[in-house]
Amino acid sequence: MRIASFVGQKGGVGKSTLARVLAVAAARQEYKVLIGDFDLEQLSCVEWSASRLRNNIEPEIEARAFKSLKKLLKTVVDYDLIVVDTRGLADELTQDISQESDVVFLPTSTSMDDLRPTLALARRLAKTKTVSNKIVIVLSKTGRSDRLLEQAEATIAEAGFDMLNAVWPERDGFQADLDVGKAGSEATNPYLKQAAVEVESAMLTLALGRKG
Ligand SMILES: Nc1ncnc2c1ncn2[C@@H]1O[C@H](COP(=O)(O)OP(=O)(O)O)[C@@H](O)[C@H]1O
Ligand SMILES: [Mg+2]
Repeated sequence: MRIASFVGQKGGVGKSTLARVLAVAAARQEYKVLIGDFDLEQLSCVEWSASRLRNNIEPEIEARAFKSLKKLLKTVVDYDLIVVDTRGLADELTQDISQESDVVFLPTSTSMDDLRPTLALARRLAKTKTVSNKIVIVLSKTGRSDRLLEQAEATIAEAGFDMLNAVWPERDGFQADLDVGKAGSEATNPYLKQAAVEVESAMLTLALGRKG
């Protein structure tokens, strides 16, 4: 069983969204996937999973609320992949989850306001040897400026962290899809679909530990 987690210092950067995008990618390839939703205030993934059921969107994606990682590890068996969504704060749970994960995604926008705390968290997590090689920064909700994108990429590279080799662009259509229980490549718009496929496959490769 593999564990891929989404952590961060801030809210609104796309953790819950990318968790759902990854879960869709895995489920569509017939992996048995569960989203562990640790954001008990928002329960974005649990609510989304319910909208998905209500709207008859296949494949069904299970999402369950958890308060502790221990509980998750004890109760959850027989899955290929657990996608862990967390709150927008970096606490002890973030540390524990990161240690148990096979890959730790840190989504951030290109703004320094988001990059700074994201890289600070990445540095803190990287102090633990077993976590440092699992950290992957994801440029999320990116705008249309190539210059801002390149600057952000340079900042991340300079800090010495790995970056997902696809970005998650900000588009109204993605938000509309989430609201009806879809995510990522389930977009009907072909441009959005293509952008989502790239992010999905980049994340899935890392989540499943496949080469290339
Ligand atoms: N690529 C995108 N384009 C447009 N809106 C997005 C995109 N990704 C996420 N959102 C929206 O941004 C908001 C915050 O995303 P969310 O995944 O909930 O962030 P977090 O879990 O980090 O707080 C949500 O309203 C979501 O619908
Ligand atoms: Mg969230």
